[in-house]
Amino acid sequence: MARKLIVGNWKMNGSLAMNAELLEGIKAGLAGVDCDLAVCVPFPYLAQCQHALEGTGIALGAEDVSAHAVGAYTGQVSTRMLLDFDCKYAIVGHSERREYCNESDELVANKVQRALAGGLTPIVCVGESLKEKDAGLTEAVVSRQINTVLSVLEEREVCDIVVAYEPVWAIGTGKTPTPEMVKDVHALMRELMIRKNPDAAERVRILYGGSMKPSNAEEFLKMRDIDGGLIGGAALKASDFLKIAYLASK
Ligand code: 13P
Repeated sequence: MARKLIVGNWKMNGSLAMNAELLEGIKAGLAGVDCDLAVCVPFPYLAQCQHALEGTGIALGAEDVSAHAVGAYTGQVSTRMLLDFDCKYAIVGHSERREYCNESDELVANKVQRALAGGLTPIVCVGESLKEKDAGLTEAVVSRQINTVLSVLEEREVCDIVVAYEPVWAIGTGKTPTPEMVKDVHALMRELMIRKNPDAAERVRILYGGSMKPSNAEEFLKMRDIDGGLIGGAALKASDFLKIAYLASK
């Protein structure tokens, strides 16, 4: 994969003032960045961020999207609404939504399908819990999560997704798997996608997420099959986010 992708997931953080400062800081440091960049922000700030990112080349994304096209779904946000704000990406199936909002593999797959049909690039998150890791179930869990998504996609659609491997136990904890472990899981996921569409070998980017920061990003980003990062905490500080972007540009 030629060009890496670094995505910030702001989660439920930010304010008008904080976002403005963060994006100004990122924009001021873009010289020397030679990778694709995106920020996925809370829904209320899409308009602000769309405006602030105009002409920068940094893509905008949402942190979730509805599985439905339109209608009586109080509190949900549709693909078409996201396109009104020039969103390119929507994170789908983040472990925090799987856990706190009871999102099933099937719902996640439906959201991926809807995002693609609407012209968004879904960033599909998968990853095992600590309990599953300790039980030796990492490969089984990740395979089940990916295969459920693949089962609803047309062959041609496989190349239109981004995948993020985020072990739940590494999110926000400061703990990370070794780069070799991540590389192996990514290779497994790529193999599953290649079975459905051989072009996935070159065309699907697989990101790593979970406590990625400037001090450890390089060891992940230099591995084969790790095509970028999905960054939580370190995406809230312009200098940290930029440092990761510089490392991804090497
Ligand atoms: P942290 O980088 O804060 O561990 O979060 C990772 C994440 O969940 C990104 O989606």
